Amino acid sequence: MELRESIIRRRTTNKAFKNEPLREEDIREIIFAANRAPSHFNSQPWDFILVTDQGIRREIGVIAGESMNQLISKGDFFKRYLKYFRFSKTEIEEKKSGIYIDKVPAILRPFISKIFDNDGVKLLNFLRVPNILGKDAKKIVSDSPLLLGFMLRKEEYRPGEKSGIYSLISMGAALQNIWLTATSLGIGLQFVSTPMEIPENWNKILQILRVPDTHELMAVYRLGYINQDGKRNTIDWVSDERRSFDELVSWNYYGGKK
Ligand SMILES: Cc1cc2nc3c(=O)[nH]c(=O)nc-3n(C[C@H](O)[C@H](O)[C@H](O)COP(=O)(O)O)c2cc1C
Repeated sequence: MELRESIIRRRTTNKAFKNEPLREEDIREIIFAANRAPSHFNSQPWDFILVTDQGIRREIGVIAGESMNQLISKGDFFKRYLKYFRFSKTEIEEKKSGIYIDKVPAILRPFISKIFDNDGVKLLNFLRVPNILGKDAKKIVSDSPLLLGFMLRKEEYRPGEKSGIYSLISMGAALQNIWLTATSLGIGLQFVSTPMEIPENWNKILQILRVPDTHELMAVYRLGYINQDGKRNTIDWVSDERRSFDELVSWNYYGGKK
């Protein structure tokens, strides 16, 4: 696949993957690509944990499901990230950023944009939305053939010093290499970030993965071969919109026109 095609086709894969282990040569290709990314002084500040063991994947899946359930039922998630949610096609087309909740069971549709007030959260709980989302999250994480722990060596991350920023930029470059290479191999990727939002749940994951004190677990991703015909989650989102060239750039100085 050409690079441009990978860039255009890369997406967050929200749904379940094919029930098929990843080939080791594909896993090696992904890690090879990650490690070809630029890093300050070629420090390669990253290390990886490849989780293929079914029992460990299930343990992490349970934590991901519980985290989702907890975040939604308490309303924390929406409070924290309200500004990124869009509830209509018109809204996402207008804002050109954020995520559009385009798949909602018909019974919930009339209520979905009202979830941000206190009564809305009560309503969501009454309609068991946290359970629906939690169950889906648990299943798709547990059933992913590969969970990838992406770690930053703490000696490279010194907040307040330039190298702190350099190491984060390097991690971003490595992630993008991972994601584009995965796309080119027909492999999808999704962040498993909900446990990060709840410190005690994230600690449980650190323990399961035996992350040493020398390392910061920056993210956990789930990966697998994309199932084009697979069913979408009960409640789901897309985020295809992007701002245009003219909205993104200034010429010569901030605010400058061509
Ligand atoms: C730091 C970071 C954290 C993210 N966390 C999540 C997450 O927890 N769950 C998820 O489904 N997507 C997560 N995403 C994916 C973004 O939502 C996604 O990249 C964005 O909406 C654009 O969609 P696309 O990846 O399909 O192009 C995360 C992305 C980044 C860079």
